[in-house]
Amino acid sequence: MSTEASGSGGASTATPPMIKAASVDKYFGDLHVLKNIDIEVPRGQVVVVLGPSGSGKSTLCRAINRLEPVDSGTIEVDGEPLPAEGKALAALRADVGMVFQQFNLFAHKSIVENVTLGPVKVRKVSQSEARTTAMELLERVGIADQADKYPAQLSGGQQQRAAIARALAMKPKVMLFDEPTSALDPEMVQEVLDTMTSLADEGMTMVVVTHEMGFARRAAHRVLFMADGEVVEDSTPGDFFSDPKTDRAKDFLGKILTH
Ligand SMILES: Nc1ncnc2c1ncn2[C@@H]1O[C@H](COP(=O)(O)OP(=O)(O)O)[C@@H](O)[C@H]1O
Ligand SMILES: [Mg+2]
Repeated sequence: MSTEASGSGGASTATPPMIKAASVDKYFGDLHVLKNIDIEVPRGQVVVVLGPSGSGKSTLCRAINRLEPVDSGTIEVDGEPLPAEGKALAALRADVGMVFQQFNLFAHKSIVENVTLGPVKVRKVSQSEARTTAMELLERVGIADQADKYPAQLSGGQQQRAAIARALAMKPKVMLFDEPTSALDPEMVQEVLDTMTSLADEGMTMVVVTHEMGFARRAAHRVLFMADGEVVEDSTPGDFFSDPKTDRAKDFLGKILTH
């Protein structure tokens, strides 16, 4: 299909995947938690990662952000191998936004300060420009009226939307979400999923670990099912939910869809 263009039109030939993991292995002591992971995520793709507890989903996310170094193999973001340390690592962390189950906002800073801090420190944006962007982002996630409050004054859903705004303020290339709604009261889950869905619709490259199957069906382009540190299935949501291939996936879906 692809004709190796010679000379002309060079600019369009090599768009690297936004995330590429090749032969990645990770151990915690004797525990082999990521086993020969090979994944490519094209830009704009929304990947939902499913799997039982302990299967390595969080470790995979953390490895993409280099919160966890891997023992072998390579991970690249936008064609660049992950830097090990220093300024390059700080820049990587800005390019790869991460939202956790626990919101991890700075308790002693207001919501808008939480959102301006990174751009000012890491991206060297001026305070006034950072504030303008922060207010736009808070507007976008629906909590502009909470800008001057402290995290503890907000509901869990509002705090998680603030955490998303904070990550977006760095103008990331990729957003990783690790069970972003698992710590929320049920009535607040949807507002966070709606924020994530609109981000997906805007073309953000996203890796989302979640147990929200409705989100996976509606927003994901692709489902990765992990078990015991391996990617066991890699398919579309339609195929995964209607026709899982492995017993592990069938068992997982049986448990998660019947309660
Ligand atoms: N910092 C750590 N030290 C030792 N073992 C860990 C650490 N983090 C995770 N693990 C283990 O690695 C495995 C994968 O964990 P994790 O990636 O958190 O799985 P998941 O997110 O799918 O529940 C589990 O067996 C877990 O207990
Ligand atoms: Mg986890």
